[in-house]
Amino acid sequence: MAILDKHKILETNATLLLIFSFLVVTIGGLVQIVPLFYLENTIEEVEGMRPYSPLELTGRDIYIREGCYVCHSQMIRAMRDEVERYGHYSLAAESMYDHPFQWGSKRTGPDLARVGGRYSDEWHVDHLRDPQSVVPESVMPKYGFLERKLIGPENIDDLIETHRMVGVPYTDEMLENAAADFRAQADPESDYDAMLERYPGAQVRNFDGQPGISEADALIAYLQMLGTLVDFSTFTPDANR
Ligand code: HEC
Repeated sequence: MAILDKHKILETNATLLLIFSFLVVTIGGLVQIVPLFYLENTIEEVEGMRPYSPLELTGRDIYIREGCYVCHSQMIRAMRDEVERYGHYSLAAESMYDHPFQWGSKRTGPDLARVGGRYSDEWHVDHLRDPQSVVPESVMPKYGFLERKLIGPENIDDLIETHRMVGVPYTDEMLENAAADFRAQADPESDYDAMLERYPGAQVRNFDGQPGISEADALIAYLQMLGTLVDFSTFTPDANR
């Protein structure tokens, strides 16, 4: 009873209550924030993560340009319904090379963090061209113009250099070979071994099934990579952090 009586003094005195509330919030805040200054890195390193290949990076730029993030998130939360629908919850490391990040804030369509490999390239071509042809009730706009717009690696050096500036570890070798790697990934006839060494796990295909490299090729290369870099059959969270 005694402690409750003492608490009554606090509860009946607004100024005192304010002062003590402020103290409690301050301590709580410090406990949360201070440890972050003593961690060298708040992102757990995870095997498999690598900078995006030139073609994927170009596709990512198109994704941002077209505002796909307005309707799609790329962040699977650690909640049962999400994990059952989309797969393993997203790791911080999986967006460590994203500038800007693509977590999104609204889901008019499904989360895309692990859409890679879920559908065939043909499905993506059909879906981008006319979403309602594969999902009749879809409200997604048509992006058929992407497959008609042919692109080259003209801007890839600048794009990679910009990402390097903000901390993505692209090497000089990656920069020097960017244009060649861009073309190699979209052409299964090409000599793509060196590209694969630079970007392990990159998928090499004619993504849109048509001659020439189109914006759809780059976008589908990006979509098919999403969520596939970390192998979750062998991944175990580092409990010591
Ligand atoms: C106006 C909102 C909207 C925009 C903008 C939008 N989408 Fe969608 N998207 C949807 C909806 C709704 C669905 C679910 C129905 C369907 O599959 O079409 C969807 C589904 C998808 C799917 C299938 C996901 C799955 O797991 O089944 C992919 C892939 C996709 N969108 C990619 C894109 C890309 C790439 C862009 C940008 C070029 C884009 N979307 C722009 C609304 C949108």
